[in-house]
Amino acid sequence: MRLLVVCLGNICRSPMAEGALRARLAEAGLGPRVEVDSAGTGDWHVGEPPDRRAIACARGHGVDIGGLRARQLQAVDFRRFDWLLCADAQNLLDVRRSAPDTAVADSALLLDWAGLQPGGAVPDPYTGGREDFEQVWQLVDSAAQAVVTRLSQGGDSGIIPT
Ligand code: 4NP
Repeated sequence: MRLLVVCLGNICRSPMAEGALRARLAEAGLGPRVEVDSAGTGDWHVGEPPDRRAIACARGHGVDIGGLRARQLQAVDFRRFDWLLCADAQNLLDVRRSAPDTAVADSALLLDWAGLQPGGAVPDPYTGGREDFEQVWQLVDSAAQAVVTRLSQGGDSGIIPT
């Protein structure tokens, strides 16, 4: 299974979610079964590491995301990944609008797909403070744990929402 987490800038929410997912999957021994990456719908931060506040927050939870570099969502991602998991409704709208005719990937909200919160958003912490990044971490780490539980229990079909 190949998962791509998508937010706006790919420097806050989606790299934090990528880090949480990688860590929880590795902890459960599922690392080899699930490929995880992240991208942004915007191009402002392409090539940059995650926001320093995102790096610090993840590090506080024992996860190193400092080596990640931002990239923009590309047409090929719609063929390479099984699921494009979006941080909020605007990201999901932008993803669906930019889908090429050849797209095979499905798209959903991350928190919805994880079975945590139907229609739920991971709020953008960019203009916020430390507590906003901490809230993002709690959400994406809860989502990562929920994904691992579903994969462990039900196989691939178990994590596809109805
Ligand atoms: P992200 O946060 O989408 O969680 O990476 C943002 C990062 C940068 C900007 C907006 C949101 N920006 O406008 O540059």
